[in-house]
Amino acid sequence: WPKDVGILALEVYFPAQYVDQTDLEKFNNVGAGKYTVGLGQTEMGFCSVQEDINSLCLTVVQRLMERTKLPWDSVGRLEVGTETIIDKSKAVKTVLMELFQDSGNTDIEGIDTTNACYGGTASLFNAANWMESSYWDGRYAMVVCGDIAVYPNGNARPTGGAGAVAMLLGPNAPLALEQGLRGTHMENVYDFYKPNLASEYPLVDGKLSIQCYMRALDRCYASYRQKIQKQWKQAGTSQPFTLDDFQFMIFHTPFCKMVQKSLARLMLSDFLSASGNTQSSLYKGLEAFRGLKLEDTYTNKDLDKALLKASLDIFNKKTKASLYLSTRNGNTYTSSLYGCLASLLSQHSAQDLAGSRIGAFSYGSGLAASLFSFRVSQDASPGSPLEKLVSSTSDLPKRLDSRKRMSPEEFTEIMNQREHFYHKVNFSPPGDVNSLFPGTWYLDQVDELHRRKYARRP
Ligand code: CAA
Repeated sequence: WPKDVGILALEVYFPAQYVDQTDLEKFNNVGAGKYTVGLGQTEMGFCSVQEDINSLCLTVVQRLMERTKLPWDSVGRLEVGTETIIDKSKAVKTVLMELFQDSGNTDIEGIDTTNACYGGTASLFNAANWMESSYWDGRYAMVVCGDIAVYPNGNARPTGGAGAVAMLLGPNAPLALEQGLRGTHMENVYDFYKPNLASEYPLVDGKLSIQCYMRALDRCYASYRQKIQKQWKQAGTSQPFTLDDFQFMIFHTPFCKMVQKSLARLMLSDFLSASGNTQSSLYKGLEAFRGLKLEDTYTNKDLDKALLKASLDIFNKKTKASLYLSTRNGNTYTSSLYGCLASLLSQHSAQDLAGSRIGAFSYGSGLAASLFSFRVSQDASPGSPLEKLVSSTSDLPKRLDSRKRMSPEEFTEIMNQREHFYHKVNFSPPGDVNSLFPGTWYLDQVDELHRRKYARRP
């Protein structure tokens, strides 16, 4: 099979408007700092009625194709991961064919994959598996993931967001998926789900969802560690794998504070397992917790505090940079993890990243989770694939700065409009097209048979 299958290029899209979390704290009459410090969020992007999951994905694919300047017929597989379902049958992928079919390229495998925030990762795995199979025809694969994360009024609402990521996959990639290294955990729970087809909102048990995420992380890390140690043993090394072997670590990010706690939890896994050298100064302050079982620690606040303190330097080094977009745009469900990857690239130089291993944890409620890794290529020279990929993300801060700040009142009004128009027919969405970023696709019209038409802002 081809060598070093992985990400060659990626593109991020987020809405052109946001609400500030300090404004929301005041508006919702919660203690100052609850969203900004307690959840670690500063801003939250949101879409008007003019944008839906199809338009988000159209925009991000168009942008990626324009930037890479690849011919439309060079893509042989296109996978979409999303949980923003507007049709129970017709895939977002079919709408994206609108972009490809003019070139005559209709020979493109792949459809949509859904399970909460995990669909993007399932799509990535499907695309990579295709490239490593007898069905690969030598062309690129593209993975698109995106979501509109919205909650009803209440404590989950500040953990919303919206956005999409498109990734181009091929051989000899600067971010190669490490073969044979996926630790997966799946189980049946009702932590977050969307049974109400008449509403965009999920049902969510916030506290349960946090515990499920943590349990999935523990299990995936144990499984990943076992697999990599087996590989190492076969290669003649018997050292234990620890967090230290990930130079960078990215996570699905429902809110940023959760990620800081998750990184800390990996440290706890090392500490409590035989592989962690428990005498190491790395684990300073954790002595009192030796002997605990991982599964008994989910609600231990003292341990939480000690872990956050012990892992702070490691968090700053390995993970903090990956939260740049999530802090400012919020949760984007399936694309959250890949937005973190883009953030990590945007905040580091190619030299910083060259040769490193990036661990990635993907979590989708319900639940499906995997921990896997990318190996970054060694060559960071100017013009190298790695340098090009890294520099393509450097405009993230400027693009985020150029968004329009909306008041909580305006945000609430737009949420109400989204509720009103959800699954309505025969309408053209209200709103000013010029408030979208140039080049954005938007929903122009829904006819009496629920058929959606899209247009592109010049
Ligand atoms: N200043 C500073 N911190 C404050 C504060 C203040 N004034 N007031 C509260 N806080 C802290 C709290 O102490 C708490 O921190 P710790 O957990 O570290 O103690 C934090 O702010 C949040 O406060 P609460 O726990 O009281 O918050 P809440 O119960 O009102 O809501 C939530 C939080 C459960 C995450 C809710 O927003 C929610 O349900 N969100 C959606 C579900 C979610 O995101 N789950 C995450 C895992 S599931 C997943 O990953 C899939 C997915 O994408 C949805």
